[in-house]
Amino acid sequence: MYITLPGETEFVTAGRFQRSEDRHGVATGRFVYGKRYLSREKAVPIDPIELKLSGKTYGTRLLKGIFGTLRDACPDHWGRRIIERHFDSPGPGELDYLLCSPDDRAGALGFGLNREPPAPRREFHRTMELGKLQEFADAIVKDEELPDGPNAQRAQEFMLEGTSMGGARPKAVVEDDDALWIAKFNRPDDKWNHAKFERAMLELARACGIDTAESKLATIGDRDALLVKRFDRERTESGYRRARMLSALTLLRAEDTHQDREKWSYVLLVEELRRISAQPKADAPELFKRMCFNALINNSDDHPRNHALIAMADDWKLSPAYDLIPSMPVSIEERFLALSCGDGGRLARASNLLTQYARFLLKADEARAIIDSMEQTVRERWYEIARKQGVSEKDCETISPAFTYEGFRLNPSESAVLG
Ligand SMILES: Nc1ncnc2c1ncn2[C@@H]1O[C@H](COP(=O)(O)OP(=O)(O)OP(=O)(O)O)[C@@H](O)[C@H]1O
Ligand SMILES: [Mg+2]
Repeated sequence: MYITLPGETEFVTAGRFQRSEDRHGVATGRFVYGKRYLSREKAVPIDPIELKLSGKTYGTRLLKGIFGTLRDACPDHWGRRIIERHFDSPGPGELDYLLCSPDDRAGALGFGLNREPPAPRREFHRTMELGKLQEFADAIVKDEELPDGPNAQRAQEFMLEGTSMGGARPKAVVEDDDALWIAKFNRPDDKWNHAKFERAMLELARACGIDTAESKLATIGDRDALLVKRFDRERTESGYRRARMLSALTLLRAEDTHQDREKWSYVLLVEELRRISAQPKADAPELFKRMCFNALINNSDDHPRNHALIAMADDWKLSPAYDLIPSMPVSIEERFLALSCGDGGRLARASNLLTQYARFLLKADEARAIIDSMEQTVRERWYEIARKQGVSEKDCETISPAFTYEGFRLNPSESAVLG
């Protein structure tokens, strides 16, 4: 395993990861830091809780033997789908996903089979190649052969470049003169313009006082894509600095499965956040705001990979907010977040959001004031901000029920009656 140390732009070797399976198929992962790495003045832990700097061999049987911090660096649904196209039956193994994805992955880690790290990448897709990337992404969504006829192999490789970023939506990593961006493409089968709506939600969150990732819209032919600036990269003369990154899934030591859902909780997450963050007094209330915002816009896809901590230097802090999208509500009385948000579980209701305010380092009246003001901003401004970002009248109408949620202010006792 390789890492780009704070302030640097090139990999150094951090340690060795090994994964084995016993005859029952139970996997064990082992990680040990290299002696040379431990003796470096700038050495930093790759996970400040699970893999502290020390000479011992760490072991895990969780997550198919892959430490959480490695899983965060792995491709997710979208990237896996592309990598799988490169393998014949029985398909790639867990480590193939790590080794096949290029080093534009989230965070500061890199992987390879050699003791010495590879040279850093200097070439990225440029924004002017977005058209081609979108065309390939469409083909992958439809499970078609990639276009380009005899050059299909080249097309596959071209597309592999974006695989290491997580998430399920079609995406690629592109560079312009200022920075690296994640390009998120609209899917041909989308019911509304996701790119524009996601951009509008990032702006609406900002209007609610939330720190959000920078973004801009790009038009490719007659389609839109959202470009989100990577907050885990910092451009310098000599290349890109990289921030280490830990997802909330890793902080919660949780699996991405339904069986592990009881660990998916904002209340547990804020406990971990306060332990690791160098600025808990800012980060804990910020997480509270994001939880409330998700309830107010009906973002029920707020799963733990959609929250992260980053460390550009030694200190960890909450990353800017990203991937904010309203879902079509099923009910106007009861809605649920992906993570538990109070004593009443995942119920997205003001009374529930307020039950654990102290853990978010807030006083009761501060927590109430945050909710009141965000509710007002969302209600009064969502439409204007969406239209300003070019969301069509029709799309606004389709998604408008997400913003009019009568159940938000019901008392806990009222849910039984409505339920
Ligand atoms: N601005 C950013 N800078 C760095 N990393 C980011 C940024 N935005 C997202 N990421 C990382 O990329 C992953 C995928 O991005 P995102 O969540 O926006 O995609 P998605 O496909 O919409 O996800 P989902 O499957 O949750 O719908 C995130 O889980 C996060 O690890
Ligand atoms: Mg996501």
